[in-house]
Amino acid sequence: MDGNSVVDIKQLAPENVRAIAPYVPGKAISETAREIGIPEEKILKMASNENPLGPSPKAIEAMRRWVGQLHLYPEATFDLKAVLARKLGMGPGHFVLGNGSNDVLELVARTFVRPGDSVVYSQHGFLVYPLVTQAIGAKAIEVPARDYGSDLDAMAKAVRADTKMLFLANPNNPTGTFSPWEEVRGFIRRIPPHVIVVLDEAYGEYLPDALRSPTLRWLAEFPNLVVARTLSKAYGLAGLRVGFGVAHPDAAELMNRVRQPFNVNQLALVAAAAALDDAAFIEKSRDVNAKGLEQLRHGFERLGLEYIPSHGNFITVRVGNAKAAYEAMLREGVIVRPIAGYGMPEHLRVTVGLPEQNARFLDALARALGRR
Ligand SMILES: Cc1ncc(COP(=O)(O)O)c(C=O)c1O
Repeated sequence: MDGNSVVDIKQLAPENVRAIAPYVPGKAISETAREIGIPEEKILKMASNENPLGPSPKAIEAMRRWVGQLHLYPEATFDLKAVLARKLGMGPGHFVLGNGSNDVLELVARTFVRPGDSVVYSQHGFLVYPLVTQAIGAKAIEVPARDYGSDLDAMAKAVRADTKMLFLANPNNPTGTFSPWEEVRGFIRRIPPHVIVVLDEAYGEYLPDALRSPTLRWLAEFPNLVVARTLSKAYGLAGLRVGFGVAHPDAAELMNRVRQPFNVNQLALVAAAAALDDAAFIEKSRDVNAKGLEQLRHGFERLGLEYIPSHGNFITVRVGNAKAAYEAMLREGVIVRPIAGYGMPEHLRVTVGLPEQNARFLDALARALGRR
């Protein structure tokens, strides 16, 4: 090769790929411990909406039985779909399994969206929506939020002739806002049937009983609806990467063609199947979360801080100079999530922890803001 004609590798990628803003995850515990020179056990991470109770104990037990079998390709897809079918009252043909629900979000897009099509989602929506849209070379239509939540009317109006897909998270991350289900149903009715509506219910398990999602019952009426759920949050399996989509069987079948074979590993499959049957763990997760949210709300009120009422396992609070507050807390070993990347430079998002963790966070926040 001619040494003078060195190729700029970046220029080889299509423009839409070069324009992707990288996803920035919550800061790692190990990295923080190294940077500030304290042991990892002393670090408190409340940055990634993980379950403070750890993984479902039933999932751990199931994985133990399988670790000696990891030389084999995954084969528990059938079993997990059978559990989902039993739990959710839908035939196994409705499901597509994902390496986390992020994988499902991407699968839907890769199955239905062409380069040049447009995709609608809300301002302050989950950052994976723009990422997926951009990676495909589709056009993003970001609809301004209303009171930090999704403006369903404006989103329905934003649909154009070239719109192929729409993402809606309910509850939404990072704002924790929730749209009542009757409004969501009215909204879907307004969306043309050739537009795929992806309802992202990553935090659905945390909703109180009266607000639990009715959306699976809508699938017969709306074949263009895809519901995405995850085992990462209330089931405590974020590190395993397992989620699923529920859709019309024809849509699920297409997505299953696009999906990589074995996209969900065997430990994740067996753990997910066990966790779905761990009702006691889910109840405990919900309970700890509801009490933790209350503790955090009270703490913010004591500090005179404005917060966005949350329906998830996190809450977003307005602190002013969020970058400075984040960095000050980081120096104490408390990791939260700055959300300037979501267009909210004055807010921090904090994941609900155990009571003592919430208390440590509130103390650190008060110090960071010079309130004590
Ligand atoms: C709204 C929303 N959707 C989907 C996900 C994806 O979760 P996972 O890929 O772990 O299932 C998250 C994770 O934070 C989220 O906040």
